[in-house]
Amino acid sequence: MLGYVRVASLKDVPPGKCLAVEAGGNKIVLVNSGGTIYALEDSCSHLGAPLSLGFVAKGSIACEWHGACFDLKTGEAQSAPATEPVPVFEIRIVNDEIEVLV
Ligand code: FES
Repeated sequence: MLGYVRVASLKDVPPGKCLAVEAGGNKIVLVNSGGTIYALEDSCSHLGAPLSLGFVAKGSIACEWHGACFDLKTGEAQSAPATEPVPVFEIRIVNDEIEVLV
């Protein structure tokens, strides 16, 4: 484990948007839902679409390819066709910079 790695500034991820980043060899999507930042693996558990292409809703993100939704806090699949969760990452904000634990 590397520890916390800076991946973006808060201003790079405005509310309702997401951003693809990389840290420690992981592809990660940062999501801003209602001002709270979440970090999930940037790969849908259905067929691997980048979730960073998806649509942010309150507390969830929907995959662009087939519409599966995932809980931003837990990564759990909330709707078909996905049944497996996607990994989530801990984040912290330091001086308006987003850091991910990898
Ligand atoms: S690849 Fe995401 S729902 Fe199919």
